[in-house]
Amino acid sequence: FFSEELLNAKRIFNETNNINLKKLIKNVEKHAIKIEYLEHVNAFTLQSSISKTNITMLAGAIICGDTRLIDHVFLMKRQPIIAIDGPAGSGKSTVTKLLAKKLNFIYLDTGAMYRALSWYLINEKINFENVQELSAFLKNVSITFKTVSKSLQEVIINNHVVTDKIRSQEINSIVSSIASIKQVREFLVNEQRKIGNKGGIVAEGRDIGSKVFPNSELKIFLTATIDERARRRKLELEKQGCGEISFKELKEQIKKRDFDDSNRKISPLIKAENAIEIVSDGYDIEQITNKILSIYLETIPKELTP
Ligand code: DC
Repeated sequence: FFSEELLNAKRIFNETNNINLKKLIKNVEKHAIKIEYLEHVNAFTLQSSISKTNITMLAGAIICGDTRLIDHVFLMKRQPIIAIDGPAGSGKSTVTKLLAKKLNFIYLDTGAMYRALSWYLINEKINFENVQELSAFLKNVSITFKTVSKSLQEVIINNHVVTDKIRSQEINSIVSSIASIKQVREFLVNEQRKIGNKGGIVAEGRDIGSKVFPNSELKIFLTATIDERARRRKLELEKQGCGEISFKELKEQIKKRDFDDSNRKISPLIKAENAIEIVSDGYDIEQITNKILSIYLETIPKELTP
């Protein structure tokens, strides 16, 4: 009956998001049993301050005659969130996409939102250095993602499909400075939270674990050495038919972007306090994705993963 009571409390929790501990204790005591303890705690730290905690645990021990029984159930308010942050060229996008597919989670590319907004500001010739003009403009901006096929997600800003346009050299060179504007960040962080607030999402960016979803169940900081990232970028550009590109020049570009992203005043690129760092040099996408997947499965209690 003890585990039945716990499971019943879990069923009620799944419907109401609420645990009535007093009632549960009463129900258990009805069986004329001594309760040693019965608590609703954070599933990871076992602490009892749980107001903002997503994954919690009802755990207890009862004395039944000569026997001491212990049992628990895990509870989850929303589906998990995985945050993947790191610099450009670390393999974030491909890994995030693949991981989302494996888990059947939403894939959120926040860099694409900064890129789309940059494109739109330029396209509409907005003076984004003017705070009033920028703030008024942002009131009417809407960014959406549309899944077209298993491997393609279109990026749409108002009525413009900008999926390819936002990958241009022009956007590459301006996006960092637009991403450092306070009003832009506030606007996009808010949009990102709206997309992810129900969980079941793998989000990639620079500030996902530190700012957008600080309560993510898993935070990964994915990086690679500058040489490795320049080598990957060179291959990518050559594949796109951009001709021979100087390795040295690419390295300089990457260094500059890292510097700009890591040194801006608001939400700079940093490894979140409890993020796990992975250096992707020498590993392929599948290996990195599987590594993150196995960390995820170790982190989330089994009974909560489908
Ligand atoms: O990941 P990406 O290269 O598409 O990102 C484009 C730019 O946007 C990059 O300069 C960093 C910035 N960015 C950011 O500041 N915060 C995010 N969460 C995502 C991207």
